[in-house]
Amino acid sequence: MSTQAPHLSATQERSLRDIFPGDALLLTPEQTLVFATDAGRRMGTPLAVVRPTTEAQVVELLRLAQAERLPVYARGRASNQVGACVPDRPGIVVSLLHMNRILDIADDDFVAEVEPGVVTSDLQRAVEARGLFYPPDPASIDISTIGGNVATCAGGMRALKYGVTREYVLGLTAVLPGGRVLHTGGRCHKNVVGLDLTRLFVGSEGTLGIVTRIALKLLPLPQATATLLAGFASMEAAMHGVRRIFRAGILPVALEFLSPEVLDCVARRQTPPWPDSVRGALLIRLDGSRESLPLEVRRMHDALHTSDGTSGDAPGDATGNEPPVWSAHGVGRDEEEPLWAMRRGISPSAYLVRPNKIGEDIAVPRGRLLDALTGIRAIAQAHDLPILTYGHVGDGNIHVNIMYDGADPSETTRADAATVEVMRLVRSMDGTLSGEHGVGMAKKEFLHLQLSPLETELMRQVKHAFDPLGIMNPDKAY
Ligand code: LAC
Ligand code: ZN
Repeated sequence: MSTQAPHLSATQERSLRDIFPGDALLLTPEQTLVFATDAGRRMGTPLAVVRPTTEAQVVELLRLAQAERLPVYARGRASNQVGACVPDRPGIVVSLLHMNRILDIADDDFVAEVEPGVVTSDLQRAVEARGLFYPPDPASIDISTIGGNVATCAGGMRALKYGVTREYVLGLTAVLPGGRVLHTGGRCHKNVVGLDLTRLFVGSEGTLGIVTRIALKLLPLPQATATLLAGFASMEAAMHGVRRIFRAGILPVALEFLSPEVLDCVARRQTPPWPDSVRGALLIRLDGSRESLPLEVRRMHDALHTSDGTSGDAPGDATGNEPPVWSAHGVGRDEEEPLWAMRRGISPSAYLVRPNKIGEDIAVPRGRLLDALTGIRAIAQAHDLPILTYGHVGDGNIHVNIMYDGADPSETTRADAATVEVMRLVRSMDGTLSGEHGVGMAKKEFLHLQLSPLETELMRQVKHAFDPLGIMNPDKAY
């Protein structure tokens, strides 16, 4: 039996060299190692890494890959945490970072056309300079690419008011296995002709084809924004705060929760502005016109300090329904950005607590948020593990970072057990296993808890229509 590591044949290598001259093809382990993994740190085996600059190269590649039945893994900056672009079967990794042009920003159409390797915050700056707005803002905004955001249907903080990536993709060009080029949608903000193949690609995790061009909807840029950080005496009080905001008829741009464990974690990295009495916080963003915004900030303040109709609003009345014990707010980018940088830094800061993380991103119906958070706290206590909860509570979407030391077998076993319990808890509430990070490799074992056999079967048939030989990111997502 051969013990040789998987490798390309000499002919396959020559064919790749013909399509990808010079350093557009990487072959040595030193060059390809970094492309073996993603932010979730699972490892795969890149047989080669190719770095196309043109759609024609992608077409040639997918012709070759189909003919040779070589697995293909497209990726941007690989900031996803679920192994979605890890080459777990040996195959060709396609880095789209060199297809990174903003092709057009059409002011009158309110459309941008981009290649997949454009970094999300670069696009945002470019459109904002022209008074336009591209809302999706995953926490990885300065790292991740539009192509990656499309592949995962990235969410972010502003999803509450403005929706996720799905809402902004108007059309795209994708190369399918075998080299067929598919154009879907266009520049129209509304379009109901035929099945929505554009949306099928959004969140498909690279399992259908390689997207080479994306048309994105833009909005007018809001004139002004403000950010409030409201500190509460407990997690329960913060969740009552969420309820008060919605009951007052306010739809914030962003409504983020920080649990006491997360506040402690942030305090390990920076001197926090909040006093020790704060044991749960909401980070809230509002936008509007320069004239309306101060009124909106006042309304938010009033909402947070007004009874939500349940008892216990008086200070010191510890039923979990107290108003904030502390708050701060900033107006304009310079004052607001430090608060949001702190928020975006939570996910990486979690490693200050333990060297390893199982990072979940569950969502539950909004009315079950407090039940979910309480259940997760009980799971943390039962397994004696730090579990950090935070995130997009306005959407019912909570990040659950189960922290453990991978060198400690007992902690590792407990972390795995806690993960299973979190998944079961979420499903018992009619929640979803993933609100924004996707399935990749990490959540496949739990899919049966959510998808019926018929749903799975139909998804596989759809994949088969695009990718009959199963070479696009095989075995991932569904
Ligand atoms: C966040 C990432 C982890 O919201 O989705 O911080
Ligand atoms: Zn998130």
